[in-house]
Amino acid sequence: MPIETTLTVSDRLPENAELTAVPFGPDLAASPVELPVPVSALLSHYEAKGEPGEVFEVPVVRGDGVGRVLLYGTGDCSAPALRKAGAAIARKAKGRPSLSVVVPAHGDVSALVEGALLASYTFRIGQTRTSAVEEIVFSGADEPALRRGEVAARATALARDLVNTPADVKTPEWLAEQARIIAADHGLAVRVWADGDLGEFGGIRAVGQGSIHPPRFVQLQYTPENAGDGTPHVVLAGKGITFDTGGLSLKPNEGMKTMKTDMAGGAVVMAVMSALAAFEVPVRVTGLIACAENAISGSAQRPSDVITQYGGRTVEVLNTDAEGRLVLADALAYADAELDPDVMIDIATLTGAAKVALGVSLGALYATDESVADSLLSAGEISGDRFWRMPLLEDYRADLDSDVADLTNVDRKMSGAAGSVIAALYLREFVGERPWAHLDIAGPARSAADDGQFTKGATGFGVRMLLSYLAA
Ligand code: BES
Ligand code: ZN
Ligand code: ZN
Repeated sequence: MPIETTLTVSDRLPENAELTAVPFGPDLAASPVELPVPVSALLSHYEAKGEPGEVFEVPVVRGDGVGRVLLYGTGDCSAPALRKAGAAIARKAKGRPSLSVVVPAHGDVSALVEGALLASYTFRIGQTRTSAVEEIVFSGADEPALRRGEVAARATALARDLVNTPADVKTPEWLAEQARIIAADHGLAVRVWADGDLGEFGGIRAVGQGSIHPPRFVQLQYTPENAGDGTPHVVLAGKGITFDTGGLSLKPNEGMKTMKTDMAGGAVVMAVMSALAAFEVPVRVTGLIACAENAISGSAQRPSDVITQYGGRTVEVLNTDAEGRLVLADALAYADAELDPDVMIDIATLTGAAKVALGVSLGALYATDESVADSLLSAGEISGDRFWRMPLLEDYRADLDSDVADLTNVDRKMSGAAGSVIAALYLREFVGERPWAHLDIAGPARSAADDGQFTKGATGFGVRMLLSYLAA
């Protein structure tokens, strides 16, 4: 379903377009479309400041009828400004068959495309037709840049689709099947672990054992053309909890009703993997998705059970709602033992505490390696998926010591303080000596409303950051 809008590139402005978007800003001398009054007069009439997100509709003569021009602000033409501008014009064109866009003379036009396409995203189950603009024609723009924006937007929309799919459809088996489809469509190698194959993955098995939909572990592999021995290898691991009831440490309804989102990290990994070839990413990338449903039943794990993570470490599970770290620890320990990566990055809707700390505009970033942290933070600024560095504070490590096992899965004092830091410290136990970063997207994985490039529900936050990091 995702983005039904088609994107067309034309070297000139189509004549007699019914709806044309024209940028206005300090450097706009004259509009390429004839207007009833000079632009400057229109701008002062509308008290327009030229900020991104401003759009003014002006009627123009079209043959015997009336056409419309959308004057749109572009601010400083930075990528965030153009993303916002693109989203605003696409929203204004809702329900129309076609929108022609004159691109600004400055700035990276791929951001304008991302904004326009992502704001046109819809997710519906049923007969209702989408109201997004059917076609957007970009004229006078650099085609490769437009297509880059399109690939990034469609990958983000894929992640949104996976996350927006209800959990009654989205079982771990279904998610693994989607990974197989992505692999077939984009030339990736794929392997899926099920049932007896999951023997060593004690965290994934324990979390999944309460559900009638059994868990899966998925590996997708991308190898660039001309890869050699010196080609770096990055592992991406995503939390794929298809629904998080909390298990026997049950969540209240208010906190549970959005928990189909709890595989957003896994969805980001799948979406990134789908776009690597199109971006000609020069590094080897392995995507791991740890899929399970954290359900409640007679076979669910109990608070106080002791499980064995991949690699042999034992864990006293004191809270079954801290399940994401259990499935991710298996994925990270497996990657460290078997895949010999140069960098490991995990991404997860891991803790409510990360959302409390940073809200919905920023993801939390933890890293053991300064250069990985810096690269991810700057990829975040460029792409618009922004992250904030958080501390791996040693003071709290002892809170994960258990009386009966190697570790507990939550702060033994159960104070609830620094929940996001403690979850990160837990994961760090499983990464060996590898440079590692952890991305907690519990806040920004969902949007409460249509807002700029975001549409209500899943956001696909993290896809464009990781693509920009890997393509750099
Ligand atoms: N999936 C949740 C985290 C979450 C909460 C994501 C809200 C998005 C919005 C995770 O599995 C969880 O429940 N974590 C617990 C950990 C606690 C028991 C230590 C939490 O954050 O409360
Ligand atoms: Zn949970
Ligand atoms: Zn969870």
